[in-house]
Amino acid sequence: MDIRKVGVIGAGTMGNGIAHVFAKSEFEVILCDVQQPFLDRGLQTIKKNLEREVTKNKLTADQGEAATKRIHPTLDRKELAACDIVVEAASEKFEIKSELFRDLDSICRPEVILATNTSSISITKIAAVTKRPDKVIGMHFFNPVPVMKLIEVIRGLATSDETYQHVKALSEKLEKTPVEVNDAPGFVSNRVLMPLLNEAMYAVMEGVATPEAVDEVFKLGMAHPMGPLTLADFIGLDVCLDIMRVLLAGLGDPKYRPCPLLIKMVDAGWLGRKTGRGFYKY
Ligand code: 3HC
Repeated sequence: MDIRKVGVIGAGTMGNGIAHVFAKSEFEVILCDVQQPFLDRGLQTIKKNLEREVTKNKLTADQGEAATKRIHPTLDRKELAACDIVVEAASEKFEIKSELFRDLDSICRPEVILATNTSSISITKIAAVTKRPDKVIGMHFFNPVPVMKLIEVIRGLATSDETYQHVKALSEKLEKTPVEVNDAPGFVSNRVLMPLLNEAMYAVMEGVATPEAVDEVFKLGMAHPMGPLTLADFIGLDVCLDIMRVLLAGLGDPKYRPCPLLIKMVDAGWLGRKTGRGFYKY
């Protein structure tokens, strides 16, 4: 399969990072979102992050500029008909994704792979709304996308070997390392990471230690680049809560119950870095 043109749906944190890495690897990108300000903000972030790479001598100025020019923003989903693969990074709501995949299924050529960057929604369930479940797959990138080397490649129940092999090869072209996992709540990454963050929140709630102390333990004792509460703020507390709820509903074990402090903070609108307040103030 010759992949030249890539559709990316959603220009938010993950979507703009995904568009960035495809464009940097010389793919043409059609970046689609539902409102012009979302596209403008996404493109601005891509430009800033590419410039950062130029400043750090990871890219030449010409390469940075060429990558920017390979990204074509659009509000018209029908333009994705020209794409050889589509990676969806829209909101983490099943209703939104199912509507999108149904539509993509009718817009894109039948051989086109439809990938989703979902962090926890079942690939099998998303695939089932299309007439090509064998060509639906999870391509889970990590934030910040230009920096993190992993792509968790998730096979739904019906995903074909051929689709998996194409996505594996494509991930390697992006200079990322694909890791194959099967479809299950939270896959591997969030099934293991989120309970860690959730437990760190319990430690704070129960007065075992301050957020600063918990984070120091993980930074200095386990060489994590960010402590769990800084990381939770970075990911977004609403995202953490959504994923804990998926784990609890999907696995049915009370060990996955979201920390009440997390629920309270999300109720307060303290969603972490993006709202200026979470476990820390920004
Ligand atoms: N775009 C491009 N480059 C970036 C960047 C961005 N958005 N953000 C940081 N960088 C680069 C910097 O330029 C720097 O490059 P250098 O090594 O060549 O100097 C490098 O990354 C390190 O950045 P900084 O020196 O500014 O800062 P740090 O050393 O503190 O690193 C970090 C920042 C890379 C974010 C690091 O703290 C880290 O790895 N944190 C953990 C991130 C993590 O765990 N992500 C996964 C979240 S879970 C997820 O995404 C899944 C979802 O489903 C929930």
